[in-house]
Order: sequence, then structure tokens, then C-alpha cells
Amino acid sequence: MKIFLDTANPEEIRKACDTGLVDGITTNPTLASREDKPFQELIKEILDIVNGPVSVEAVSRDSAGMVREAKGYSDWGENVIVKIPMTVEGMKAVKALSREGVKTNVTLVFSANQAFLAAKAGATYVSPFLGRLDDRGHSGTILLQDIMQVYKANGFGTQVIAASVRSPTHVLHAARLGVHVATLPPRVFWQLFEHPLTKEGLEKFERDWQKVKP
Ligand code: G3P
Repeated sequence: MKIFLDTANPEEIRKACDTGLVDGITTNPTLASREDKPFQELIKEILDIVNGPVSVEAVSRDSAGMVREAKGYSDWGENVIVKIPMTVEGMKAVKALSREGVKTNVTLVFSANQAFLAAKAGATYVSPFLGRLDDRGHSGTILLQDIMQVYKANGFGTQVIAASVRSPTHVLHAARLGVHVATLPPRVFWQLFEHPLTKEGLEKFERDWQKVKP
């Protein structure tokens, strides 16, 4: 499973990419709004840091507008993936863009049928939102399971991105299911490294080493 970072903060991206374990970035308008930089400048800075796909979201509501935006974003760098919302207009745009070889990430996906349509339209990636579904009393993990089953049964090549990830448990569930990518808020990325027994063990080894070191 690949790890993407779900943030538009260049400092967080630099720090996490330094580990060598980050394969790409996903952004959205909310994440971009938290950064104090013009949008294009921000995305170009991110593209310079990351050696992998960077999702950038189209905000038009009509397919022609989305296609126009997508083509503009694609000119910013070859690693740009255009995020398109799961709507009728969005799927028309994905179909047109896939014919032209523009890579897409269908976002705001909350059902396996939506994921099915995104794959049929030719999406490169599809992003089911686990956390937002869990917040409503449904199960993001069951959704992931359903999507993986539907994609396998139909031989779709669309890659599944577990999005709206809130905890290491979400990451584990996605990895168990063989999901292609999990996109993590930086907080969850760093949590994956931690375990209190690792910390405790390391402290003990350090103390004991002081007793025996030459
Ligand atoms: O980038 C899309 C998704 O990951 C958003 O997550 O936490 O706003 O539900 P969240």
C-alpha cells in the first residue's frame, strides 16, 4: 500500500518526505485555504518537493469547466492528478479527461456504486472518505471492502485511495484489504511510527548501555 500525505502544508510535506516513506500528496480546497500562499504558487512548491502524484481539486460544477481546470492544472507539472467530485458532471469530465490521458482522482465517494461509476468513467484513482462516513454512524471499512470486491470482480484498474483517514486503525484496515493507497493527515502518519513499548524499550537499552559501554 502506498502512503500519500493529505495536506497542503509544504513544511509538513518536507518533513514527512524526508523519511523516504511518502509516495504522493492529496490536497483539497479546505487544506489549501489553511496555507497563506496563492494557490498556484502553493501547488508548484508542493510539486517541487514531492517525487510522486499530487492531487489538485477542480472546483467548477460543470464538466466543461472541470475539463478546462484540469488541463490548466496539468500544465503545472507531470505529477498533477486532477481531483474531480463524484457528480454526473464530474463523471462526464473524467470520461473526457481519461480519453486525453489526464489522470484523475474521483473524490467525495461514499458508496461502492459511486466507486463503480468512477472506475467505468476511467478514473485513475477513487477516494472513498472513511472518517466522514464513520462520523455518520456508517462503516468506512465496510465501504472499502465493498469497493475492493467490486473492482476485483470487474477487473477495474482504478486505484483506491483510503481518504478521510482519522486514525492508525483506518490505515491498518486499508492495508489488510490490500487497498492501493492510504492518504494520511500528517498527525496519523507520525502516529504510525509510535508505540509506548518501543519508547520504553529504547529508554531501557540506553540506561543499560551506560552500565556496560567501554
Ligand atoms: O482529502 C480528502 C479527505 O481526506 C478529507 O478528509 O478529514 O476532511 O474528512 P477529512
